[in-house]
Amino acid sequence: MAKEVNTIGVLTSGGDAPGMNAAIRAVVREAIAKGKKVKGIRRGYAGLLEEEIIDMNAHSVSDIISRGGTILQTARCLEFKEEEYQKKGAEICKKHGIDGLVVIGGDGSFQGAQKLANHGINTIGIPGTIDLDIDCTEYTIGFDTAVNTAMDAIDKVRDTSTSHERCSIIEVMGRGAGYIALWCGIANGAEDVLLPERYDYDEQALVNHIIDGRKKGKQHHIIINAEGIGHSASMAKRIEAATGVETRASILGHMQRGGSPTAKDRVYASTMGCLAVDLLCEGKSNRVVGYRHGEFVDFDIDEALSMKKEVDEYQVKICHDLSNS
Ligand code: ADP
Ligand code: F6P
Repeated sequence: MAKEVNTIGVLTSGGDAPGMNAAIRAVVREAIAKGKKVKGIRRGYAGLLEEEIIDMNAHSVSDIISRGGTILQTARCLEFKEEEYQKKGAEICKKHGIDGLVVIGGDGSFQGAQKLANHGINTIGIPGTIDLDIDCTEYTIGFDTAVNTAMDAIDKVRDTSTSHERCSIIEVMGRGAGYIALWCGIANGAEDVLLPERYDYDEQALVNHIIDGRKKGKQHHIIINAEGIGHSASMAKRIEAATGVETRASILGHMQRGGSPTAKDRVYASTMGCLAVDLLCEGKSNRVVGYRHGEFVDFDIDEALSMKKEVDEYQVKICHDLSNS
């Protein structure tokens, strides 16, 4: 029989992402609308273990939908990978009356949620990461904002690159995944995009491409390099030496994680927050919310963690075609 949930906890875990506040707001307000109490857990699983738990009401989430970051703050907590601390986390939830929990984060955070579910706390995960590297979903909170932020920054680098007739290597985030790089590759019309999923270490091909471009009168050459490949500074030195074209590296870094979320991130994060609460109210547990084939859906966490997704082959192809014709 479905267990009735009375008090819903919410936490953010792992790297922050713009739109997490919209999800927190939705969890709090949807839960209140359904007659539930809500508690916020600060600093992810680290804060749970330290009992950093606060009562939340509709007013606690006023004025946050447009703000980047997470008002609950976030952390990485290595001890939570150990059974002893997972049990302690579940006991702390029970002590504070939290019988349903919404975890906003990535795959690692979902594994923590799964462990809490095994210890009797109904849990639902919401995908929150700028990296888009969660296999069960085509959308993760923060990706859209991060891509737009990176796109704007790359446009600016391109202006100065053109003035100085340089090659620019611009490194974008994404951990081991190349989604931000690929989207910027298309959105910025970059000459080359280096994706961890496809990288063949053929620097000579880059060198030839730059020299060919010069012969055709190109005034800049933008290479978007994914963090998963990295080494942009040393790559720039080698490319400059091999081509004779002045080359600079820019690493965009944490600016990609901040800023006011786009409309898409606000709306999708709000929808996911409400859906997570609705699932808890239906007595569901050990599930994650996702977006696939144009619909918001939910999966068993075990199933979600075993799924695999690939970079979109057609996007990779058009990204290459559009910069090489
Ligand atoms: P993300 O959630 O973005 O993938 P991490 O991989 O850093 O980020 O995980 C965030 C947090 O989730 C970790 O610091 C840890 O507290 C928790 N976590 C990660 N892996 C596990 C696991 N195997 N079991 C329990 N908790 C985990
Ligand atoms: O997962 C989000 C992310 O920004 C990755 O793109 C990056 O690899 C990592 O987090 C950086 O983590 P930190 O904030 O700990 O430097």
